[in-house]
Amino acid sequence: MVGSGPADRHPSITPTGDDAQGGQAHPRSVGFDVPAERYDRFMGRFSVGLAPQLADAAGVAPGMGVLDVGCGPGALTEVLAARVGASQVAAVDPSPAFVRVCGERVPGADVREGTAEALPFEDDAFDVALACLVTGFMKDAQAGVVEMSRVTRPGGRVAACFWDKDRHQMLEAAMGAVNAGHPLEGPPPTFVGGSRGELRTLLEHAGLTVEADDELTVSVTYETFDDFWQPVLRAPGPLEVIMASMTEDELAAAEAHARAGLPDEPFTLAATAWYAVGAV
Ligand SMILES: C[S@@+](CC[C@H](N)C(=O)[O-])C[C@H]1O[C@@H](n2cnc3c(N)ncnc32)[C@H](O)[C@@H]1O
Repeated sequence: MVGSGPADRHPSITPTGDDAQGGQAHPRSVGFDVPAERYDRFMGRFSVGLAPQLADAAGVAPGMGVLDVGCGPGALTEVLAARVGASQVAAVDPSPAFVRVCGERVPGADVREGTAEALPFEDDAFDVALACLVTGFMKDAQAGVVEMSRVTRPGGRVAACFWDKDRHQMLEAAMGAVNAGHPLEGPPPTFVGGSRGELRTLLEHAGLTVEADDELTVSVTYETFDDFWQPVLRAPGPLEVIMASMTEDELAAAEAHARAGLPDEPFTLAATAWYAVGAV
């Protein structure tokens, strides 16, 4: 769990030390071991629309054995279980809180703690391995995709998606507000998979034959301004680090900025993700 505390006035979530990957950022302090409800309300509501599209793109169908890498609280795991049956689904995530909730939401699935870079499964164990919104948080995304390929049988598929860094209206509104209250130092963080072609490259470098490389779009409707803002205040992941460093005045300025740009009646925000599918 992260949280740099009020003393850290200018949090940096750019990569440093062992977590830097040749220019590809891994925000060292990102943490997801938080109550699943915080993730669900902030980003999980987008995953719900994205997960079935990724499953479609990967060709998940009855009879297959499938693996959800970085399952979080289980948005994709639930979709996979509905398609192939829970006993045919495995899922893995480093967050104990998310693993617990995912296991509760998908009884009968094999849900384990672990990371993409060291998957706790045998070679060729699955027909399809998927990672929904995970590459940007792996310590070594290339190693993670190589592992996904290892546990997928020859002829099977590996699929991954990640938000386009410039086309997520909720994150744009949230980050715009945060910046208005507390200007961030340095360039914005980057996440592996968030730019055109990055996922294709990861798959190709893992020796996969890329079958699809395109984008997926989802929309989420917010009932009120608070339906948008309260989850931002309690967001897990990168935003948590920044939020924890802001004073009350800065948070108030951020909220005022966000309010000025959004209505207090139902509104819809869209987000686009890159995805790629490769054959083993
Ligand atoms: C943005 S969430 C996505 C969760 C879920 N797949 C979804 O679509 O809602 C990113 C997830 O990646 C997990 N994660 C972080 N580092 C990871 C790693 N090295 N290997 C696998 N999962 C990781 C986090 O714990 C978190 O659950």
